[in-house]
Amino acid sequence: MNRGTDDNRTNKIQYDAIVVDDSKFFRTVIAGYLSEHGFRVHTASCGAEALELARSRRPDVILLDVQMPDMDGFAVCEALKADPVTGRIPVIFVTGEEKTDQTVRGFEVGGADYVFKSSAEQEVVARTLAHARIARLQMELLKASRQAGMAEVASDVLHNVGNVLNSVNVSASVVADKLRKSRVSGLVNAAKLMREHADDLGTFVTQDEKGKNLPGYLAKLAEHLVAEQTSVLNELEGLTKNVEHINSIVSKQQSYAGTLGVIEPISIGDLLDDALKINSASLQRHGVRVVREYGEVPPVLADKHKVLRILVNLVRNAKHALYEREHNGRNLRLTLRIGARKDSRTQGHCGTGVSPVSSPAGRRCHSERVFIEVADDGVGIPRENMTRIFSHGFTTEKSGHGLGLHTSTLAAKEMGGSLTAHSDGPDKGATFTLELPIQPAEVSQ
Ligand SMILES: Nc1ncnc2c1ncn2[C@@H]1O[C@H](COP(=O)(O)OP(=O)(O)OP(=O)(O)O)[C@@H](O)[C@H]1O
Ligand SMILES: [Mg+2]
Repeated sequence: MNRGTDDNRTNKIQYDAIVVDDSKFFRTVIAGYLSEHGFRVHTASCGAEALELARSRRPDVILLDVQMPDMDGFAVCEALKADPVTGRIPVIFVTGEEKTDQTVRGFEVGGADYVFKSSAEQEVVARTLAHARIARLQMELLKASRQAGMAEVASDVLHNVGNVLNSVNVSASVVADKLRKSRVSGLVNAAKLMREHADDLGTFVTQDEKGKNLPGYLAKLAEHLVAEQTSVLNELEGLTKNVEHINSIVSKQQSYAGTLGVIEPISIGDLLDDALKINSASLQRHGVRVVREYGEVPPVLADKHKVLRILVNLVRNAKHALYEREHNGRNLRLTLRIGARKDSRTQGHCGTGVSPVSSPAGRRCHSERVFIEVADDGVGIPRENMTRIFSHGFTTEKSGHGLGLHTSTLAAKEMGGSLTAHSDGPDKGATFTLELPIQPAEVSQ
């Protein structure tokens, strides 16, 4: 017995095999070889039985006789490969004759290997074991990569929800602070004064020094309360957007489990404004001047929340880059630009130049792309970090995770777009450009 192939028996891993042969003799012989070496073996005497057994048992490997009545081995193999449940199971053909055209046909229909009925026990076992091992490893790799993908999605979700929760906190405390300092108490005092003079209100407001000031005071107070109400409403609007965004991030994660995100026409200008709103409380607090240079662009067909997450990340990064320079007493400026340009990979198909977005014939040109620039005059990026900033975990922030740009680049690529950075170096600010196709690749074809 070949000790090199014996580890299936002594190993903790037990492989499952199905032996398919219409001849009881060969079925028993081959099944015997395999069980002798620790395989758990099931047998089938025809193609139909083999297909049913493969579906229910999902073995690590199948040994399949070529010549069988009704359905021959090649037809069985084709059926196995066409079924997603059994398609990954390696099939080893077992044949009585050494014919090249048969061997070739076997590989053509998806077979993994060949053994001959005359092959020595060791060879049959060694080949079967090798394929069973590879199949098992492939399954494990697949499982591991799915888990890694899930972990990445989870950390992406936590990261994004964490960002938005910060803004929710800030907005909530701004609202609470405004209400605490509200001038409503002035109204209470005025009402009290009027009640005290209820019997002689006319004389009070015309003759009394305090009373004479009352109408003017009430007018000013009304103005102030209206302004106060507007700013609280604005803050609450931001808060609602934040909560909506959290909602979308969470449902997005659920959608990863099955369906894809919704592809819909989105207005990039509105979406960029939403990203600003999500960050607005702290931008205002730090006195950042926001300059919006929005060019006319058509709606982009994309997953709205995927794009919003990228924009929120970019605005948030710009904000941090600006705050680090705040101490220098400079004016902080964030510039947001939107425009359209031709996709350099398809130039020549749709006329020339950067804009406009319609082709000369007036037909919309699908290869054109929309770009969104988020430019700050913050701390800038040293040359040696220009590519590192996109890698998973790279951060220079005390409380950063180094996930924002990494996940944003992946999302941009998934949508057929790109995310690039430009900076002239430390203290020279930075510009991040997100480019998206106007139509997703599969729609524009
Ligand atoms: N606008 C910018 N100006 C200067 N440096 C930037 C800018 N945007 C990103 N960076 C650099 O890139 C790094 C990575 O950014 P990224 O968004 O991936 O992670 P992070 O902001 O550090 O943490 P988080 O995962 O919380 O977003 C930042 O730490 C910073 O050094
Ligand atoms: Mg970030």
